[in-house]
Amino acid sequence: MAKPKVAIVVGSNRSESINRKLAQALAKLGADKFDAQLVRIDDLPMFNQDLESNLPAEVVRFKSELVAADGILIVTPEHDRSIPAVLKNAVDWGARPYGKNSWAGKPTFITGTSPGAIGTAIAQQHLRSIMVSLGTILQGGEAYITFKPDLIDAHSNIGDENMRKFLQGFLDQFATLITRLSPQPARPA
Ligand SMILES: Cc1cc2nc3c(=O)[nH]c(=O)nc-3n(C[C@H](O)[C@H](O)[C@H](O)COP(=O)(O)O)c2cc1C
Repeated sequence: MAKPKVAIVVGSNRSESINRKLAQALAKLGADKFDAQLVRIDDLPMFNQDLESNLPAEVVRFKSELVAADGILIVTPEHDRSIPAVLKNAVDWGARPYGKNSWAGKPTFITGTSPGAIGTAIAQQHLRSIMVSLGTILQGGEAYITFKPDLIDAHSNIGDENMRKFLQGFLDQFATLITRLSPQPARPA
């Protein structure tokens, strides 16, 4: 059976983003259970309701990537104790136009990293309340990751064994959640 498809949204447009590095490491760590692809958000125009009647090509692409995914993994920094503007912009495009919410019903796992002691906890809490309102099915638990220089090596491996096991546990639960919510093949009568 084909592995589930996971769309990864990284809430940073920074070239050396530590959250993109974490996202790539998670994609590698979960590769035996799902196929994960990063989706671009840095080229989406600033949300403007005037554009809804003729969606820009980048928005059409982004929304179709969400719709095609069996699950969504969001890996986000924290900006000023909330989510970065580039991520909120992507969330809004995903939710609109009215009646075309591309997030609805998607099993979603939220995590993120920052050098700070609480590792994006407040941003993740804000994002959770937003994504619940948009109808995603959120994975439980708390994965707040304090970034250290040796967290991820040059080959996208999580260096510390305890951290690797901690994150592997979340990815295993995420894969189970996706499978439980996926349409099941018809059983013979
Ligand atoms: C505008 C701005 C606001 C920030 N606010 C926070 C914050 O509230 N909490 C925090 O832990 N780090 C904060 N930081 C530091 C980020 O954690 C750090 O820049 C991190 O590298 C961002 O993730 P990225 O590399 O994936 O873009 C902030 C950084 C910027 C640029």
